[in-house]
Amino acid sequence: MQKNEQEVELPLPPGPPLWSGIQDYWQGPPQYFEKLTRTYGDVVRWRGMFTLYTINNPDYVRQILTQGYPQFIKDTIDYRVITQSLGKGLVTSEGALWQQQRRLMQPMFTNRTVNGFDCIINAMTTQMLQRWEQQPPDTTIWLDREMGHVAFQIVSRALFSSDIDHCSDDIVEILKVINTNSQTLRAMLRLLPWLPIPSNQHFLHKKKQLDQIVHELIERRRRQGMGDNDMLDRLLAAKNAETGEGMSETQLRDEIVTLLLAGHETTGTAIAWTLYLLSQHPQVEAQLVAELSSVLSGVPATGSDLARLPYLKKVMQESLRLYPPIWAIARKNTEPLELGGYCIPANSYLVIPIYSLHRHSDYWSDAERFDPDRFSPQRAAARHSYCYLPFSAGPRTCIGANMAMLEIQLVLAQVLQHFRVMPVAGHPVEPVAEITFKPRYGLAVRVEAR
Ligand code: HEM
Repeated sequence: MQKNEQEVELPLPPGPPLWSGIQDYWQGPPQYFEKLTRTYGDVVRWRGMFTLYTINNPDYVRQILTQGYPQFIKDTIDYRVITQSLGKGLVTSEGALWQQQRRLMQPMFTNRTVNGFDCIINAMTTQMLQRWEQQPPDTTIWLDREMGHVAFQIVSRALFSSDIDHCSDDIVEILKVINTNSQTLRAMLRLLPWLPIPSNQHFLHKKKQLDQIVHELIERRRRQGMGDNDMLDRLLAAKNAETGEGMSETQLRDEIVTLLLAGHETTGTAIAWTLYLLSQHPQVEAQLVAELSSVLSGVPATGSDLARLPYLKKVMQESLRLYPPIWAIARKNTEPLELGGYCIPANSYLVIPIYSLHRHSDYWSDAERFDPDRFSPQRAAARHSYCYLPFSAGPRTCIGANMAMLEIQLVLAQVLQHFRVMPVAGHPVEPVAEITFKPRYGLAVRVEAR
């Protein structure tokens, strides 16, 4: 096709000079990306160890995640690092493999199926609270760890029955080693796993332990036979439509590890941050506790109670805005891309900085303030739907979103009806961006029975 003479070459997006801001980037990428977008606008080019483009505009984000979906793939440095631990499970696979696996797993995550997990969620939460009751007063509780454990117990029971409960402590520890910041030098050196440096050796050792546990889980189920009607049964029964073959051992392992990691780390972190935010905002906490006691009168909530707990939902949504467990989404564009009057070359590293999008001043006033009423139905309906994306959007949206929202609300409802959570005075609270957005020094709290 002849090039239109009127056609003008679009400029590259603006951004800081080469290598500038490198220190800020290492210290806190989410906060640094936010600073970049405030200085240079919605589309920014940043050049350091690699070149990346931050895209902080809901219309452009919709184009990437939904409208132009197949042209934006996950072949980025973050995903290459994550693949080292998760293999080619649902989070990291692409194309026909991803489509087939998503179709297979989707039925386990419909609202109807997920609502049936409420007994498991409540039972695991009750167990945790009974432990808290027996502790001497003034005991320090590491909220992030506790919530990570309870979330792990929930996901392992709900999707794989109780088969791996006995090694949940080991698995949570192993997954923690695996979940280091995907862009730290240490994590990048994992792309060269044969380098005999201590962090690589530790990682490979932990990965081997995890693989062993998962293979035992699969073997045990094969010996005992199916019938639990859970995710493991689904994965084991699946047959390739063309070849009629079952899933390979490696694929099974990758899907199981993916669901265990994606299903507990994010949700646990979200519950911990919400309890922390409530401890800092006593009026919000009082309003929420009043709603819970008037609707539930001290008993755990079920899925069907949630419609009568609107403030609980707003608190969860606002917490996911300020502390989004997945703080950025990375993609590579397979074609050149035009956005906002700029051109981004094909095969670039694109970053959708969820943390900044959730603070964009065009859509959120006084964005740093914790204000659950932003999520009243009227205010939410007036906002662009792509400026709030804790679970992403489009075909690759989080498959576990329904489960996570149910879990966060039910755990909060039980904890808050029984305990007041107070931070340990003087303990620093600062987020750090690993794969999830977590408290850097942990969340140390004390609890008091209500
Ligand atoms: C608060 C909790 C959670 C948050 C904030 C969250 C967030 C996200 C986000 C943002 C993505 C998209 C990542 C990308 O496209 O690059 C994602 C994908 C995914 N999540 Fe979640 N997630 C949560 C809980 C869960 C749970 C409970 C499960 C499963 C039990 C789960 C399983 C997955 C899987 C398998 C994917 C990949 C889906 C696909 O590509 O088809 N997540 N999640």
